Formats: sequence, structure tokens, C-alpha cells
Amino acid sequence: HAPISRSGRFVSGPSEAVARFTESVSFDRRLWAQDIQGSLAHAAMLHKVGLLTRAEYRDIRAGLEAIAGEIRSGHFVWKPELEDVHMNIEAELTRRIPAGAKLHTGRSRNDQVAVDLRLWVRDEIDGLLEDIRTLMRALVRLAGRSTEIWIPGYTHLQRAQPVSAAHHLLAYVEMLERDRSRFRDCRRRLNECPLGSGALAGSTLPLDRAFVARQLGFVDERGRPRVTRNSMDAVSDRDFVVEFCAHAALLAVHLSRLAEDLILWNSAEFGFIRIGDAFTTGSSLMPQKKNPDVAELVRGKAGRVIGNLTALLVLLKGLPLTYNRDLQEDKERLFDTADTVRACTRVLAQMLDEVEFQPDRCAAAVADPNLLATDLVDALVRRGVPFRQAHHLVGAAVARAEQLGCPLPQLPREEWKRIWPEFDPSLLEVFDLARAMERRTLPGSPGPGQVNRELKLWQRRLA
Ligand code: ARG
Repeated sequence: HAPISRSGRFVSGPSEAVARFTESVSFDRRLWAQDIQGSLAHAAMLHKVGLLTRAEYRDIRAGLEAIAGEIRSGHFVWKPELEDVHMNIEAELTRRIPAGAKLHTGRSRNDQVAVDLRLWVRDEIDGLLEDIRTLMRALVRLAGRSTEIWIPGYTHLQRAQPVSAAHHLLAYVEMLERDRSRFRDCRRRLNECPLGSGALAGSTLPLDRAFVARQLGFVDERGRPRVTRNSMDAVSDRDFVVEFCAHAALLAVHLSRLAEDLILWNSAEFGFIRIGDAFTTGSSLMPQKKNPDVAELVRGKAGRVIGNLTALLVLLKGLPLTYNRDLQEDKERLFDTADTVRACTRVLAQMLDEVEFQPDRCAAAVADPNLLATDLVDALVRRGVPFRQAHHLVGAAVARAEQLGCPLPQLPREEWKRIWPEFDPSLLEVFDLARAMERRTLPGSPGPGQVNRELKLWQRRLA
């Protein structure tokens, strides 16, 4: 039979091809719980303002709850010819209960889908915030196992200065905490109720918007209901979807950078870590291979999350107010983004528990004395040499050592003297790595004191 939106105005139903092209129930059925939640609140309000009798409201509520149970258990039959999740549920309700025909009073699918989506994103953010915390805990655990591990820190992928592995890992904890705060911010901003906006211009019926908002938890910190302030904005606004996908894209970029660090560290060339067998895969051809595919996929999936954000922005950029069917295209980008970042977040958290630093390989890499060339500059500065000059002198020593094929601390005394006549061998004490690390006491620096403080702080915050 013809979709309910066409009855009356149309003589025939849509062609088979049109129905197939326009349907969205194959993917927007994911909104079913939010759709029913919204309908229950709307029906309660219609009863409160006298547009539904007590009996009608009771029937509608019982009917929606029965349908919810059937959807949950997989027994509900979805009909593509009924277009979307909203009409599937309403049509089935009305088939069972005459009062179902009153449920859509003062409502349009335009404000209905807007409320469903806000509820869905809100729930999704709550779940994602927890998943991110779980990943942060895994990072902190690995950092806690690695406080004694020093590795080179890199700029330009060139060895730069020594850091602790824990310090490197805690950098990602900082990024993830910023991600969480962005999602929380998005949640706060989207938490307004669009119901009562109708198709675009509200309703002439005496709807109680604040009541619905309160029912659905669209309230501010002080519990006051929040309703959208412009009906035209409310039905065409997808900013919250864009914001969610933008924050997700940045999260995905952070996860991708972490994955890339793990991939590099896991290579034979670095050899800083080993990843447990359960999180690597073999090659169909080369029997010796153990590949970090999980990390590579996390890196790769950032691409589609960024693509989803771009798709949404392009989708919106030319749309005139208010609702346009184009907006139906938002859902798959949103769902795919949410599913992808949650899967990446979860799998990385599990993988990190299977990552171990290889102390010997790390020690060998960090033993490169050039990593402490900057410390030598600082030592000269302490003796009153202007920084620019000290930088130049040590640079000359590095070049000379390279020419002679010897490590910097072994550069012969006469060579040092030729570069800087005031040289004395006590300066070479800077090349003691453990003491060099102890000297890094500034807030935010990789010295053991600071790193242990940060570790304790995160352990407490994430407990
Ligand atoms: N399935 C539609 C969407 O996702 C719901 C709103 C439809 N409204 C309309 N007037 N056709 O956007």
C-alpha cells in the first residue's frame, strides 16, 4: 500500500524504482529507540494539553512499547515501501491501534528526525566518552610499565633528544582528553529540543514544548528545559552532526598518529616494541612476516572519517532553508563515523595491553650521544657563552666528530680545544644519560620526576 505521506494527495503510489531510491529505513532503522522515545514524550504532551484522551494515550504508549519490544528482539518486520523508520513505526502502530492516527498531531517528520538524531548523537557521545577513557587508561598502563625506558624523541623523524617512553605515550593521553572535552562541548550545545517546530513553521495547536524537552532530558545544568528558538533553523540544522563528525575526525587523526608511531616502533629498523601475536597478522606468501595490520587499519580508517566530514559539509553548503530531502544523506556518514571511531578506539585499547617495549633496542637507540648535544650547549651557556655561539661551537664539534668517525664524547681533547680553547673535560659529564634525564625538571618535561607526577595524576583522574 502507498506510504502514508502520499495518501489523499496522490492517486498512485511511487514507482518501484522511486521507492527503492528514496527509502532510508534500511539504515535509519538504527534510530528506532530514539524515535519511540521521542514519540512517547510527544504523546504524553498531547495528552497533557488535551489533544489525546487518557485512553488514547494509554493505547499509544502500550502500542509503542510493544513495537519497541519486537524491534529489540528482531521480530518487527521493516517495510521499505514505508520509506523510513518514522513511518514504519507509526504505520504499524496505527494498524494495531486506531489512536495511532493521532500520534503525528502537531508534528512533522522534519522535527521528528531532528529530535531522533539529537537523541542518537547524545547517546553516542556518552558511549564514546567512556571508550576514549578506556583507551586513555590503556595508554597510562603501558606508560606505567615503561617509566624506565628511554628512547630518542624525534623531530623530522630524525633523532632529536631523549625522552621516556611514558612521556611519549602520555602525549596521546593529552590529545584524547582534549577530544573528550570537545565531545562534551558538542553534547551540551546539541541538547535542545526541536519538537514543536513542525515541518518548518511550528503549529497552531497548543503544544507544550518545554514539557517535551524536560521529558527527553533536553535540559540545562540547572534542569531548565531547553527548546530550539527558531523553527526554520531547528528542522534544517545539522550542525551537531557536523560537529560530532569534526571532533571524530580529529580523534581519528590522533588515533592514526598513535598507530603510526606503533607501526614505526614495531619495524625491524626501530625495534622499540613488540606487538602481541593476537594483534598482528601473517603474510600469505612470506612465512617470516608478522604485520601490524590492526594499527595500519586504524591509520587507514582515519581517511574515511575525514571523508565523512567532508561529505557532510558539501551536503549542507548549498541547501536553502529549510528541510530538503538531501538531509537524509547525513545518516550514513554519521553512523559510519561513529562506528569507525568507536571500533578504532576499542581495538587500540586492547592492543596496547599487548604492546611491550624492548629495553635493549631502546637503550641502543638512545645511547646515541648526539641526542645530548643540546645539553652540552646548555652547559656552555651556564658558563656564560652566548647561546648562539655555544650552538655554533657544539655544531662544529659534531661535524668534526663525524669527519673523524668517532662518537662526540670521544672527540680528542686537542680537537675540542681547537674549537673552543676554554674547553675542559668536566663538560663531558653532560653525556651521562641518567643524569641528563634528571636535569629535565621543568613542568611538562620528560624528566622522571615530572613524568611520574603526570602518571600519578592520570592514574587518579582515570580511576
Ligand atoms: N527520512 C527522512 C530523513 O532522513 C525523514 C524526514 C523526511 N521528511 C520529509 N519531508 N520527506 O531526512
